[in-house]
Order: sequence, then structure tokens, then C-alpha cells
Amino acid sequence: MTQTEYILGISAHFHDSAAALVQGDHILAAAQEERFTRKKADWGFPDQAIRYCLSQLPDGVSLDKVAYYEDPGLKVRRILETARETLPSGARLWPQIVETLKCLSRELPRQLEKVAGDAGRIVFVPHHRSHAASAFYPSPFENAAVLVLDGVGEYSTTTLWSGGPTGLFPTGEIRFPHSLGLFYSAFTQYCGFKVNSGEYKLMGLAPFGMPEFHKTIRDELIEISEDGSFTLNMDYFSFDRDLSTTSPLFEMLFNQPHRHETAAITPFHMNMAASAQAVLEEAVLALAKTALERSNSRNLCLAGGVALNCVANRRLHRDLAGLDALWIQPAAGDAGGALGAALEAARATAGPRAQPTGDSMAGGFLGPEYLDAEIQSVLDSAGLVYESIPDPADYAALVAEGLAAGQIVGHFHGRMEFGPRALGNRSILADPRGKDTLSRVNRSIKFREDWRPFAPIVLADQAATYFEEPTDSPYMLLVADLKSAFRGPVGVSEARAQGHHAPMQLQNAVTSQFAAVTHVDFSARLQTIDPATGSRAGRILHAFHTITGCPMVLNTSFNVRGEPIICTPKDAIDCFLNTHLDLLAIGGFLVRRSAQPDWVRQKIGRTRFAAD
Ligand SMILES: [Fe+2]
Repeated sequence: MTQTEYILGISAHFHDSAAALVQGDHILAAAQEERFTRKKADWGFPDQAIRYCLSQLPDGVSLDKVAYYEDPGLKVRRILETARETLPSGARLWPQIVETLKCLSRELPRQLEKVAGDAGRIVFVPHHRSHAASAFYPSPFENAAVLVLDGVGEYSTTTLWSGGPTGLFPTGEIRFPHSLGLFYSAFTQYCGFKVNSGEYKLMGLAPFGMPEFHKTIRDELIEISEDGSFTLNMDYFSFDRDLSTTSPLFEMLFNQPHRHETAAITPFHMNMAASAQAVLEEAVLALAKTALERSNSRNLCLAGGVALNCVANRRLHRDLAGLDALWIQPAAGDAGGALGAALEAARATAGPRAQPTGDSMAGGFLGPEYLDAEIQSVLDSAGLVYESIPDPADYAALVAEGLAAGQIVGHFHGRMEFGPRALGNRSILADPRGKDTLSRVNRSIKFREDWRPFAPIVLADQAATYFEEPTDSPYMLLVADLKSAFRGPVGVSEARAQGHHAPMQLQNAVTSQFAAVTHVDFSARLQTIDPATGSRAGRILHAFHTITGCPMVLNTSFNVRGEPIICTPKDAIDCFLNTHLDLLAIGGFLVRRSAQPDWVRQKIGRTRFAAD
């Protein structure tokens, strides 16, 4: 078979299920199931994401193969071995294990066969190889070291690879239960956040604290060798035998119980977050150094959930000797495994990989898009008053004027993003200047914790004026520090010395000219955008810069707390009606809250949202 093979990749039955469609190295479509079912991190079989991907097959073409992102037999074996080894305490996990076994051994084969039409068309790609493929094949590198860091696949938790024209070759592996992903999740849960979604919060909490527990963690919890290989002291962790990630000894070591999710965040939790983050970074840095050495390359690709830790990524970018270029799969978590499995299966028959001319992720815009006629019909059905603005330049200027006037804008345009970040097509945008924006967006739209800053989209050619050592960051996976000229007079240490200790107090005390998008350490989770690519978010940003002189806007995902990012025009309108967005910029239309009839305005902001 040749490059014309069409292959569907699937990830499912763990968390964040997804599907992706490729032809050789070309990525036609990719989407997470949660966007369709509206169930955050949906782990079920991705029927709707598959249906969407198959809709992107050219007319008259049928699927050649289905690639699944792990080896279910091997995974079952690991689960059973762990259950046997951890008896009797591991018996607590048996009900969950029985469900998983039933799912992987009975439901999954039936589901895959139904999609493939024939069991002979199904390919199983090991979990970490899927991640590695998702990082290397779409990257702009002909050769690269690849580092995969996640919770666990079949047995692997950490793998090193060497990628070249003929494929991916393993250069190192660390196995369950020794896992950086599970190490970080343990601290996430201990500090009162949810495993598999609260890791961002732990990373965000770290700059508020000091790494006071660094030595204790290194001495007691994790042993890291010079080459980055590590072992966890399982006396302190219990994710292999319990629903809790940490054992009672963990609490005894730090002399504090788990924080309940509604309890106050104290300096202790901030220091724990800072310490866990520092240790994670040390391990990642050492592993990445080894990966480069073993592949004899100066390029590095990352995937696995830990690769979403953009602070650790910055550390690599800044401190990793021998690194020329870093590329991170934007769907670094298990959703990206669907894409990697498909690309790896394609590689098996497509022959040597051609020299890449750039990254092949299409900016991450691989999901569904909607015609203006479809959007208009939904607007009409909802009874909304809207303006139609056909000229793209006029459209961008009008949205930019709204932003400059302090309006918060829901922006919906083009194909939906693949991966956890909204990169402009399903984004809420706002003027980043002033703390007021942070609290307004948090309290009236996102309904999330006040202390968490948002991220900026910055004009690529302006980033160096405002940030130290910026680099291209199209996927919002790196942080950069705001230059001192734009910072307020008080840093986090001074704020502490002034008696501020709660996260919100510290956040209020530490200001900058772009306070809604900078953290207490003046870092920002940067997305750079080049308007020359023609994206509408880029046009809007360019117009905003022209009007205000400010080359960045706040960008946060278009959703409310606890919900997945929106997918359809109806989702956008529901979000507009349930929050306090001032302007909905959708397709070729502008929907102004102020222009709506009374019956619509009375509905706005009535919905209450569950905590995430
Ligand atoms: Fe994974």
C-alpha cells in the first residue's frame, strides 16, 4: 500500500477520548469526543469524533485502517499484575479494575470492529509509541530526540526515542509505578485539586510559593539519577493500590492532611506546589538532556500529559544545553494518542518520511467548521439580533474597537482546535490591560478562581519588545517573562513581606501593564500569532494593536467553568446567553448584548455552574 491509505486513529476508555484521520503524513481531521458530548474529558468510545473525522474523507473514499492508541492486552496484563502485587490493600480497586477489564476485553474489540468493518483492518500501536509519533511526525524536524512523559500507558510512564526519516527508535524507558505524571498528580490531589484536570492549577499555584519542601521531596519521595531516570518511594504514594494518590505516610511526612477543595489555599499549599514543580523540572531537564545525547540530535519533541506543563517546557527552552529547537505536540495528552497511532500506522506502509517543510498540525485547527448559512440559521432560531459584516478587514476592526472599549468578546471562527487550548477560533478575547479584566472575565464569564491569570495572544513580531527570550509559541505551550519596563513596582517577595499571603492578595499586589495575563512572577503563558497567516484572531489582534498600541489580547477558551470548549454555533450562543459576554463574534456576524431584546437580556447570566 502507498501513502494514499486513509487511517483513522482512536484513543478511548481512559480519559479525553479522541479520533483523528490521516493520509500518510497529512492530517485531515482530529477532535476530542468531549466537544461533541459536552462532557468534559469524556473517556467513552468517541463515536461522534469518529463520525466527524469520517465526514472529512474525500467523496468515494473509504477507510483503509483503524489504529488504536494502545495495546489493550498488555494494559490488562499490567493492571492484573499490579492488582496481585498490591493485595490485600489493592482489593479496594477491584470493582474499578473489573469494569476496566470488561471494557477493554469485551466492549473495545466490538467497537473497533464496527468502525473498521473487519478485524483485519485494526492496528494496535503501543501507548507511548503513539505519543512519540504524535510529537515527532507532525514536527518540523527531519531528526529529533523525543521525550514522552505521562501517567502510564501499558507499562511505560516515561520513554525516550530517536526519530528520523525511517521512523522512531526507543532509547530509554521507565516503567510503572515510577511516573512523573502520577508524581505530579499526587501533589495536585494533595493540594485539593482534581487529578487529570487540576494539574494546571498546581502549576499556576507554584509561583505564589517557595520550594521549601524541595529537599524533603528529593530525600524521601523521589530519587533522580544524573541521567534523569528516577524511582518513586511507593511508601508515600498509593495510586497503584487505592483511589487516593498518596498514602497516610505522605500526610505524616508533611504534617498536614489533604486540602479539601473548598478549604483556603495557604502558604503551605503554595510552597508544596512550588516544590513539586521544581522537582518535576529537574527530572524533565535531566531526561531531556539524556534524550538529546542518545539520539545525537539538537532537536527535541515532547508529548504525554506532562508536556502540557508549560513552565517545565520553558525551563527546557532556557536551560537545556545542546538544544536548538523544541516542538511540543499541542494535544500532548491522551487525545493526541489518537493522532499518533494513526500517523505511526501510516508510517508502517508509507515508506521513509519526506523532509518536512514545517509543522503539519495546521495551527491545531483540525476540528469542525460551520458555514455562515448554518450559523445564521442558528442565530435566527435563537431570536438574536445580529449584524452581518462581510468584509474581513471591517469585521476585525469592529471587534478590535469593542475590545478597546473594554468589551469581552466570544470569538467563533473556522475549524475548532484539537487539544486542550483554545488558540483563537473558539476563544474569549479581552483587553489585557488592568486587573479589572481578570476579575471581570473570571467572575462573570469563566466562573473560576480569581487568582489564576489568563494567557495572552501576542503579535509574533512584537513579542521580543515585551518579553524576555520569547520564541515562537503558536500552541501556548511555553511561558515567557514580561520585561521589567512593563512590570509594577512590587514583586511577589515584596508582596509577601508586606503581609499578603492569600493567592488573591498576592495577585492584587503584584501588577503589570498587562495585569490580566501576567502571573505573580511576571510570567505569561504566551501564544504568538502572525497575522500574515490570515487567521481572523490574528487580524483582530493586528487591528487592536493599530487602535491601542497594545500588541496583545487576553485569550481564554470559549466555555464556562466545568464545561468543554464550545464546538458548534449553538454551543457559542448558549455560552453567550449564559454568561456576560458583551459581544459574540461568530462567523460573519456580530451579536451585541446591548442590541438584544429584553427577553434575551433577561436570560443572560441566570445559569449556575458546577465547580471544575
Ligand atoms: Fe498517555
